Amino acid sequence: MADDLLQRVRRHGAVPGHIAIIMDGNGRWAAGRSLPRPLGHHAGMTAVREVVEGSLEAGVGVLTLFAFSQENWQRPAREIDALMRLLEEYIAREVSELRSQGVAVRILGDIDRLTGGARRAVDRVMAETAGGTALALNLCISYGSRAEIARAARQLAEEVAAGRLDPSTIDEEAVGRRLYTAPWPDPDLLIRTSGEMRISNFLLWQLAYAELYVTPVLWPDFSRRHLFEAILEFQRRDRRFGRVPA
Ligand code: FPP
Repeated sequence: MADDLLQRVRRHGAVPGHIAIIMDGNGRWAAGRSLPRPLGHHAGMTAVREVVEGSLEAGVGVLTLFAFSQENWQRPAREIDALMRLLEEYIAREVSELRSQGVAVRILGDIDRLTGGARRAVDRVMAETAGGTALALNLCISYGSRAEIARAARQLAEEVAAGRLDPSTIDEEAVGRRLYTAPWPDPDLLIRTSGEMRISNFLLWQLAYAELYVTPVLWPDFSRRHLFEAILEFQRRDRRFGRVPA
């Protein structure tokens, strides 16, 4: 089934170079099974593996996953703790396979706020996978888009104040170069699971021309088949970037 969809994706045309995903619905997945919320997050790890492998199979170049927002720090300490431990577990379990698959992992966000163990784990995965060329996997952790844009504005202001930058040269590219996502093109496709129609402070600048795809599937149930369905839908869209049809 997934293989059939993959063949169709390959036949249909251009695969999105960069896919961003808001992984939502872990809590509802757990609640539906009368399980504690952290078990929903744990089940979500399988879906992360699915989309990484699906992206490699389909030839997606960049995959950016929203794993933990700045706002998530307001969740109960027990849940935050579980998410931090999950991040460590994910890295410990996957790092060697990610490296052998050619996946380069980067963490985008305010990583200084991470707990000691999680911080060591993310430093390790970034160092050990740095050479990967098959897929760039960006994990947004302790990430907020407005904070990212404010950080870029602060850097520009500091460079102007130091006399290294002429304010009249500040254009969209200059801002983009100071965002966490500077090395990669903007996402072509944004997927959000669990049916919520929100952007939730995710990549506000970078999503300017992304195609939006919302599915009712809860994140732990999201598989590579769902990823391929989203790509097929993307391939049916007519992207005009504000211009008239060709
Ligand atoms: C949103 O579901 C999901 C999160 C806040 C965490 C996402 C984390 C994972 C998928 C775990 C594994 C990922 C990595 C990279 C280790 P929610 O809790 O807001 O769900 P709800 O809206 O149903 O309550």
